[in-house]
Amino acid sequence: MESSPKILAGKKGVVFGVANKRSIAWAIAQALADAGAQLAFTYQGERLKENVEELTGTFGPGTPLYPCDVTRDEDITRVFDSLGKDFGTLDIVLHSVAFAPKDALEGLFINTSREAFRVAHDVSAYSLVALARGAAPLMPNGGSIIAMSYYGAVKVIPHYNVMGVAKAALEASVRYLAYDLGPKKIRCNAISAGPVNTLAARGIAGFTSMLKYYEEHAPLKRNIEGRELGDAGLFLASDMSTATTGQVLYVDSGYEIMGM
Ligand SMILES: NC(=O)c1ccc[n+]([C@@H]2O[C@H](COP(=O)([O-])OP(=O)(O)OC[C@H]3O[C@@H](n4cnc5c(N)ncnc54)[C@H](O)[C@@H]3O)[C@@H](O)[C@H]2O)c1
Repeated sequence: MESSPKILAGKKGVVFGVANKRSIAWAIAQALADAGAQLAFTYQGERLKENVEELTGTFGPGTPLYPCDVTRDEDITRVFDSLGKDFGTLDIVLHSVAFAPKDALEGLFINTSREAFRVAHDVSAYSLVALARGAAPLMPNGGSIIAMSYYGAVKVIPHYNVMGVAKAALEASVRYLAYDLGPKKIRCNAISAGPVNTLAARGIAGFTSMLKYYEEHAPLKRNIEGRELGDAGLFLASDMSTATTGQVLYVDSGYEIMGM
């Protein structure tokens, strides 16, 4: 039997946010690559370089890998300059990046310092705007920008604190970017994931009890798998979702619909 053409064949993407093999960015990258996309990756800093290099090397030795601290405009400029040279054009951007100082993710939200608030918003929300601005000129035929969010953007999740406020800013940014970039056929959406045991998640006080709570209370009575985030990423990256922009797609075993 002839196999059907891969749905991302010929598409090129860049992935921000792989730290290790547990990273959500890595799960989604694998789904995009399996569907035929050619991918480039970035890593936050020297500390993560070797790890990320080892992972991305599995896509072939020529896989572009650039350093990028998203709080640095010059890094972002350099990444998109390099992508222009290495790929020419771009179809997909995955933003899977977030950070808040650890002490802001425990205790009370009211104690969030000015600096923790600033850092959380800079890394976790403003960076999407900066990346979209860098990517748009490389997307003359349209494209898809995908960000990762969490339910703490819209409801209070104890300990998620300033990260919830930053995710609210991220989701609002998704909508404004969708409006600005719509005429260029560039779509911007977010995936709101249920809890996944990653490096970033372990920084949230009481994270393991969140996993247990979802298992008990979500309609599907289980937590989500990386593969399911990959499939959602594939949908949003591909031409299967050409009329979908500015949306937040929940991949959370249905938890978001619950009132009690
Ligand atoms: N794990 C969860 O339960 C969960 C749930 C919903 C949403 N998310 C979101 O998914 C995304 C990915 O997180 P993850 O859970 O895979 O954890 P992760 O730790 O694997 O990924 C977070 C990434 O952010 C990067 N990062 C942090 N500061 C950066 C900076 N200044 N410049 C460049 N990169 C920087 C890290 O290097 C890392 O690769 C985040 O936006 C997170 O908020 C996670």
